[in-house]
Amino acid sequence: MMGRTIRNKKKVAWAFGLVMAMLGLTALAADDALVGDLTHGAQLYRMHCAVCHGFDGSGKGKVTTGLKGTPADHRNGALMNARDDKMLFNVIQTGCKGTGCDGSMPAFDRSLSKLDIWDLIAYLRSLHMPLVTFFTDVNQYLVKEYTIGQVGGSEFKEGQIERLEKALKKVSPAELTNTVFTLYRSDGHLPGPELVPQQPRRLAKLRKDEKIGYVLFMTVKGPRGRTIPVGLGLDNDYTITRLVTTFSDPGLSEEYNRRFANYQGMGKRGDKPEFSGSRDKIGKFFDQAVTRLYLLAVEAANAYESEERERSWADGTF
Ligand code: HEC
Repeated sequence: MMGRTIRNKKKVAWAFGLVMAMLGLTALAADDALVGDLTHGAQLYRMHCAVCHGFDGSGKGKVTTGLKGTPADHRNGALMNARDDKMLFNVIQTGCKGTGCDGSMPAFDRSLSKLDIWDLIAYLRSLHMPLVTFFTDVNQYLVKEYTIGQVGGSEFKEGQIERLEKALKKVSPAELTNTVFTLYRSDGHLPGPELVPQQPRRLAKLRKDEKIGYVLFMTVKGPRGRTIPVGLGLDNDYTITRLVTTFSDPGLSEEYNRRFANYQGMGKRGDKPEFSGSRDKIGKFFDQAVTRLYLLAVEAANAYESEERERSWADGTF
């Protein structure tokens, strides 16, 4: 799946470059968002970025001492889908100095051309799982981090915590905070998924009947103690539309994804999730782990919805 998108992108980039060259437009387009050249982007990444961000994009490069801030993990879907291309462009071009982050991300405006930066962005985009993996028709999306039990009225907050405590024996504080992507389709003519900023006027324009669901990037504790990073898609009914690991190594992901595919279509708003169909020991283990993941994800989406309800009250669209 990932492999195919990458190859397609490369083809598109190549064809696009050819057309642009034929028209002699290369320079003209430098300021607009482009589909960059992935292969060249990968070379540039190894040359300029890997020392800090790691050759695999994990954020664990050779340079660790003396750095201010933690080099971003570019494989993290929760982080990278929360940045649009323009944001990535700005941070690469002007570094933390220009974008106001408080770390050692250097500016590359002197060593890299604008086209180089677009090539890098194409490469960065290939490292993480995009939201279209979960809903192909996403046109606009919101992103925000929610901590279960800290959003909404007191009754709502207590209800959230109560439900979790009843279903799961112990919940660690870290599990309560998750990034929620809320996806919308729109009849408009938007070219690609647009990240809608958290501004009241923009939020009020989103139409509830165009909401298609939620995506969360979380982790599942696997058998043998391994932490498995996953992406989860939920529709408006809180039914699982897709659950996949974001491990890119096929040796690791194939078996997990075979297991995770069993949960597609399971779960429903208001129902107590019973993911218990598995017979073997590992399957039973995953039943429990996915139930846990699901409960936490649903409460995070509930936190978004509670905020949405308050917002709609305020602007009279409810
Ligand atoms: C000297 C080490 C260093 C080098 C070299 C470096 N980075 Fe960074 N980068 C960082 C650090 C540290 C951060 C985290 C900054 C912060 O938020 O405090 C960062 C953050 C980022 C972010 C922002 C992610 C976010 O949280 O929004 C992007 C994108 C990024 N780097 C891309 C690149 C690319 C592309 C290159 C190569 C052209 C590169 N970096 C080279 C250290 C480095």
